Amino acid sequence: MNEKQRLESAQVSTANSPDKKSEKDYSKYFESVYTAPSLKDAKKRGKEEVQYHNDFAIPEEFRDMGKGRKFYIRTYGCQMNEHDTEVMAGILMALGYEPTNGVEDANVILLNTCAIRENAENKVFGELGHLKALKLEKPDLLLGVCGCMSQEESVVNRILSKHSFVDMIFGTHNIHRLPNILNEAYLSKEMVVEVWSKEGDVIENLPKVRKGNIKAWVNIMYGCDKFCTYCIVPYTRGKERSRRPEEIIQEVRHLAAQGYKEITLLGQNVNAYGKDLTDIKYGLGDLMDEIRKIDIPRIRFTTSHPRDFDDHLIEVLAKGGNLVEHIHLPVQSGSTDVLKIMARKYTREQYLELVRKIKAAIPGATLTTDIIVGYPNETEEQFEETLSLYREVGFDSAYTFIYSPREGTPAAKMVDNVPMEVKKERLQRLNAVVNEFAAGRMKDHQDQIVEVLVEGESKRNPEVLAGYTRKNKLVNFKGPKSAIGQLVKVKITSTNTWSLNGEMIVEEKAEVLI
Ligand code: SAH
Ligand code: SF4
Ligand code: F3S
Repeated sequence: MNEKQRLESAQVSTANSPDKKSEKDYSKYFESVYTAPSLKDAKKRGKEEVQYHNDFAIPEEFRDMGKGRKFYIRTYGCQMNEHDTEVMAGILMALGYEPTNGVEDANVILLNTCAIRENAENKVFGELGHLKALKLEKPDLLLGVCGCMSQEESVVNRILSKHSFVDMIFGTHNIHRLPNILNEAYLSKEMVVEVWSKEGDVIENLPKVRKGNIKAWVNIMYGCDKFCTYCIVPYTRGKERSRRPEEIIQEVRHLAAQGYKEITLLGQNVNAYGKDLTDIKYGLGDLMDEIRKIDIPRIRFTTSHPRDFDDHLIEVLAKGGNLVEHIHLPVQSGSTDVLKIMARKYTREQYLELVRKIKAAIPGATLTTDIIVGYPNETEEQFEETLSLYREVGFDSAYTFIYSPREGTPAAKMVDNVPMEVKKERLQRLNAVVNEFAAGRMKDHQDQIVEVLVEGESKRNPEVLAGYTRKNKLVNFKGPKSAIGQLVKVKITSTNTWSLNGEMIVEEKAEVLI
């Protein structure tokens, strides 16, 4: 089969229509299904109201699909993807599949991909190369590519032409269609491609199988409307759609009742939470104020966009309790000019003012951030402004990246006069400052008593337990296995750049200092 035939035969799953839809809805449904995605369509922000569904069910005829079969999902990218993997695992298990820890004995392998930078994509193409041999050995194996990369037409075209052994491609908007997509893939000899470029719906009752029983992720919103000029996410995740507060609160309550100790509320831009809820005036501050009353030890949220971080939220966070005093607040650059080209919609001064307010209101507030270096045409002076802002804020740590052009975004069209050598050198210089501050902040913990949520054995040494403080610092210490899943007190005896070492304290009275 030549490439043209292959493209023409790319299957679109239309046999299984969405349930109980009227004639009119039906035609809309067909319009919204594409053989391949379109970044141009993904950019559009329609006025249609978000539809909320609570009627997900595994179709009767697929109930035994996974009987005697195993699945393996490899996840790349952010927490959003990690959580989507938990949903896909939930759907697969509802279909009767069992999880396995390796690709060798899997009957279904899914790569849940990330498109944020070129190297994230290269990892996936590398993995596809490895899986080709397995697929040739086991023709019955179903291999699927899903997640953010599937939303890009260039990726879908590359898979269709160069990795034609892949069985299914589906995107971020239709993971609830996994049963139908798998069914198509079993029946069809051709690659099944079902990627929706636009989707405004929120499906509430998808099954989830969470990884672990100590910490849980809870989506509060989907998508992003910020369109920072470098970023692919608004195209791969669609428009901002908030879940209803009552649904979120119910989910958190349920997790608390199940014994979870920590919840992270998820969204690409959680500070925009509620802006699209037309019938109520309700924002992230209101939501946090409700959630803090739930009996669960720790609540986090990620990711915050500085632009929408309002005073009400700061006021609520200042109430403390289970709302931890760690805020991840991506700044991206310390230069107002670069921020403007990035379309971040705040200045260096506005960011610093926000930090000042947060620190004044929330005792012991800890800030971490994301930074991009080597933006198109970034000057040495502009980069130095990033370094000086870093020092001024005194971040505890940061994720730092070299700018990576993403096809379809405005920045990718900008002429860039900064050589890669210079970008690499800037990243090194920035990382030196990040490390210096990280080590310094860890040193502040010396001899202090911290509260640690124990997650398990240390990866390096099974004799040692590992967990995190409220400020998300990794702590290694010796203690009984019975402490796993519990909050314990640990006295810090030595510090490294990225972790703390300590001794567990058993006295009831020991006061937690940080
Ligand atoms: N929604 C989050 C960010 C998600 S992406 C927010 O707005 O904060 C995580 C980080 O990846 C971003 O904060 C940014 O620092 C980085 N990033 C995004 N696009 C990038 C690109 N094209 N090149 C390099 N880094 C990028
Ligand atoms: Fe990307 Fe900006 Fe949206 Fe974050 S806020 S996901 S960086 S567009
Ligand atoms: Fe990557 Fe998509 Fe998350 S691009 S960072 S997996 S939203």
